[in-house]
Amino acid sequence: MENLINLVNKLQRACTALGDFGEGSSLPTLWDALPTIAVVGGQSSGKSSVLESVVGKDFLPRGSGIVTRRPLVLQLHRIDEGREYAEFAHQPRKRFTDFAAVRKEISDETDRETGRTKQISSVPIYLSIYSPNVVNLTLVDLPGLTKVAVEGQSDSIVSDIENMVRSYIEKPNCIILAVSPANQDLATSDAIKIAREVDPQGERTFGVLTKIDLMDKGTDAVDMLEGKSYRLKFPWIGVVNRSQADINKSVDMIAARRREREYFNTTPEYKHLASRMGSEHLGKVLSKHLETVIKSRIPGLQSLINKTIIELETELSRLGKPIATDAGGKLYMIMEICRAFDQTFKEHLDGIRPGGDKV
Ligand code: GDP
Ligand code: NA
Ligand code: MG
Repeated sequence: MENLINLVNKLQRACTALGDFGEGSSLPTLWDALPTIAVVGGQSSGKSSVLESVVGKDFLPRGSGIVTRRPLVLQLHRIDEGREYAEFAHQPRKRFTDFAAVRKEISDETDRETGRTKQISSVPIYLSIYSPNVVNLTLVDLPGLTKVAVEGQSDSIVSDIENMVRSYIEKPNCIILAVSPANQDLATSDAIKIAREVDPQGERTFGVLTKIDLMDKGTDAVDMLEGKSYRLKFPWIGVVNRSQADINKSVDMIAARRREREYFNTTPEYKHLASRMGSEHLGKVLSKHLETVIKSRIPGLQSLINKTIIELETELSRLGKPIATDAGGKLYMIMEICRAFDQTFKEHLDGIRPGGDKV
């Protein structure tokens, strides 16, 4: 049975590939109905670092100031064996095996859209990573929330970023990964502030605490990690990412993960929480949660997909066969994916229902 998350990934990419949806199409609705995970937080809170740790690879532009200036839709695909590689939707035939080149392409592609300024753009970059070392997951990296515009930015940038972030996380199907640095008061966290606006009960927000290693001597993150400072439905997860000095020294991800594990296992304050801390744990929790959410949405998605299939069939017969045009080819591809989706849903429902009555 094909993995549900992979199937959702494919469908999202297919919707994207089609680009212009056309009047009255169900595809944008379908896209919005598909669950995703968006990473939000203040500038330099550690969002990109968290994403890299979850993936276990260096591939994102990182650093102080505004680095992430376009949404990055990151689709992780677990493969059984073989060499890991990356692919961009805007360069479909090019396989990247050098992740430093991936990082460079993200920043070049950002500049292509925004023209080497510090402006932002809401046009996403789509990146897929195929690797035996990832969990199946779709994550969106977003520009960091900020309080003031800097040289070269328009005055509206503060609210532009906020609106862009909000447009992702206000969708009820969005799972919010709210990143806050432990060395700042949670009461002032940009991530919590905006997450609370759209998810006041904390029902679809995962709190991630970064920079625990940078807290002042004599203070610790236990209250925050135990949910006593700010309550969410899901337990808070603490991480220790690489510092700027580590990055400059090229400390690799495997060493960084090992050190992170040691940190939680050996620091007396966090020992009792160690089993649910760290980037690896975060990746597993998110993948499992995403799968649960998709399963719970199957009936709604199924009817939407059936509607889309009918629409696509109509459109295809209008275009006429054989499908020579580019648009026809894309429509056909989406329809095939929708059908695969429908089939997998049926199999899952059979598996869920006792007696497995046919749908
Ligand atoms: P973003 O702007 O939210 O995407 O933040 P980045 O991931 O680019 O991180 C900003 C800076 O903080 C970088 O220099 C990171 O090395 C550093 N950083 C992020 N997380 C941690 C952490 O857990 N501990 C330490 N010591 N530094 C961190
Ligand atoms: Na940054
Ligand atoms: Mg970033």
